Amino acid sequence: MTFDIDFVRRQFPALAGEWAYMDNAGGSQVLSRVAARVSDYLLSSNVQTGASYGPSQESTRRVGEARKAFAAFMNADPGEIVMGPSTTILIRFLSEAMAGKLSPGDEIILTNTDHEANIGPWLKHEKNGITIRFWTCDPDTYELDLDTLSAMVNERTKLVCVTHASNILGSINDIAGIADIAHSVGAEVCVDGVAYAPHRAIDVKALKADYYIFSVYKVFGPHFAVMYGARDKLLALDNIYHYFFDKSRVPHKIEPGNINYELAWGSIGAVDYVEELGLRDGAAKGRAAIEAGFAGIAEQERALTAQLMDFLATRNSVTVVGRTSTAIAERVSTVSFIVGTESSRRIVEAVDAHKIGIRYGDFYAKRIVEDHGLGSTEGVVRVSMVHYNTSAEVDRLIAALEPNL
Ligand SMILES: Cc1ncc(COP(=O)(O)O)c(C=O)c1O
Repeated sequence: MTFDIDFVRRQFPALAGEWAYMDNAGGSQVLSRVAARVSDYLLSSNVQTGASYGPSQESTRRVGEARKAFAAFMNADPGEIVMGPSTTILIRFLSEAMAGKLSPGDEIILTNTDHEANIGPWLKHEKNGITIRFWTCDPDTYELDLDTLSAMVNERTKLVCVTHASNILGSINDIAGIADIAHSVGAEVCVDGVAYAPHRAIDVKALKADYYIFSVYKVFGPHFAVMYGARDKLLALDNIYHYFFDKSRVPHKIEPGNINYELAWGSIGAVDYVEELGLRDGAAKGRAAIEAGFAGIAEQERALTAQLMDFLATRNSVTVVGRTSTAIAERVSTVSFIVGTESSRRIVEAVDAHKIGIRYGDFYAKRIVEDHGLGSTEGVVRVSMVHYNTSAEVDRLIAALEPNL
């Protein structure tokens, strides 16, 4: 496996500047090919889809290509891909479209480790008599225990909502194991994949996910989002578009309003890029190359994470929030920590001066921060790296952190 960091960095024009970007879990840098595609769509095929004239057929084809690309990206079928402006909105749409399947007394399980995007929309069902139950992580280790979930599910459980990777802890959850437990009582699983998608190949079949959502602006693309829904599950959802849309009109019945065509076409560039990384490594086109591309990404990220973790382990004042393992299957390269009772803000602001972008706070995963008393330090310091970060950048970060820890 070769990882050509020079090739990688050349794909992102912003990386030529002086800043080291380590707030990637907030939003990644954008590939030049993505920006070129957005521009090309707007300047050459910006007509409404669905008409019989040639340019309209071309714009229809381009939007269809985006569904195909994301189907390959997630190991799904194009008809199982729903697109929209953001993960928060797609989960809201999903929640609204699920109303018809829920009856008073039914239960939904949420976690306190999730971003609010996969919590708030589900709480709205409480007013219709749905019981919400929180699956909380261990107060010391932050781990979600599957035996606890097994004890929580019952024949009234209709849905388990969980993040694939925590945007604070970086830990990767055992989605297939969670799905087995949910499915054993006939419940579905809605996975927030936002903090996972930039780091590893997504295989919704292997994960046994019923719904899986992520944001393309964290995966080297524009502000756009994608949701996988298993075909039979999408068909069973309510129509949330105009009244004359039939329930069978998947995915359009849950894509109210026109989706953003130029961003759909632009987003293909992100898939194309990961595939190219795999092709450069000798993998066959398509899914195999996407998986190979992510294998290279994962290894680069593991090395960066180990470099940072090794340094943090030398500082007595530092407590890593979450797993300290750097194993590829255990965590992504999002690392959070606190420094005694110090303000996380002070530490991050000291690092800002070195032209290194990191961040402090709760990152909208507010419940885990509140439940663990991390509010008193103004949240955690979060360093979120991706594969285009370098060992030299981590060295710079360490030098900037050192006098402040
Ligand atoms: C884990 C996680 N889920 C959901 C979201 C929300 O994504 P969006 O901004 O696309 O709604 C974020 C954004 O930071 C996130 O980190």
